[in-house]
Amino acid sequence: MLREELAELWWGRYVESYCHEMLNLVNIVETINPLTVIEIGVKHCGTLLLWERTVPPGEGMVIGVDMTSVEELIGSSGKSTEPPEILPGHGDPRTADFFTMCPSSWVDHAKCTVNPFDPAKSARQIHFAIGDSNSQNVHDQIANILGDRKADFIFHDGGHFGDVPQGDFDNIVQPFLKSGGLFALADTSCEGVKVLYENLPPSPRPVIFVPPNRAGIALWWKP
Ligand SMILES: C[S@@+](CC[C@H](N)C(=O)[O-])C[C@H]1O[C@@H](n2cnc3c(N)ncnc32)[C@H](O)[C@@H]1O
Repeated sequence: MLREELAELWWGRYVESYCHEMLNLVNIVETINPLTVIEIGVKHCGTLLLWERTVPPGEGMVIGVDMTSVEELIGSSGKSTEPPEILPGHGDPRTADFFTMCPSSWVDHAKCTVNPFDPAKSARQIHFAIGDSNSQNVHDQIANILGDRKADFIFHDGGHFGDVPQGDFDNIVQPFLKSGGLFALADTSCEGVKVLYENLPPSPRPVIFVPPNRAGIALWWKP
């Protein structure tokens, strides 16, 4: 993916992390040519739209997992009609690039009505598993959607606290990520995520962080 493409997808949508970090992650994911991606934590479809571009038209599948209804997830996914004039502090150098590329986290998503994401019009297969990601119901939804497939890539940006990240790993990543598949864990400094990060099972490949490691996205390859 080119920087310009990410910027176009980014604008007006919530995308976790920093644009350059996310672009690096997308480029890493592209190297594994995923057919099937699971995202845990969709919010306004920001990162989901990035994964959509990484899977091929036709056979490519993205499953978004969130406790929010599909209507809400896609209803807030469009471009904002009103760009923010004042951004809250983010500890980020206020360069022109930052303002151009990273307005999405602070727009009023009720005003994100221009060009919202329409999963039915996607050239890929887009599905949602709705409910608590730690619930059996959601695990069953994922299993039903996947059928015989396993995921090539799973992105975790869902519940960040308590046992939720570990539960997601045990009940979604372990059973549904294929052997050799890639798992990305966002926000490793958050309490529950940190516990999972520190207890990731051994893998032949070392855990690394997506450069420049500002938001803390750890990469783990399933043995
Ligand atoms: C940080 S946002 C995701 C942002 C999105 N990945 C992006 O960058 O565009 C976290 C999302 O996780 C969802 N979430 C939090 N806890 C959850 C849980 N236990 N089960 C399902 N979804 C959960 C929230 O509803 C929210 O939409």
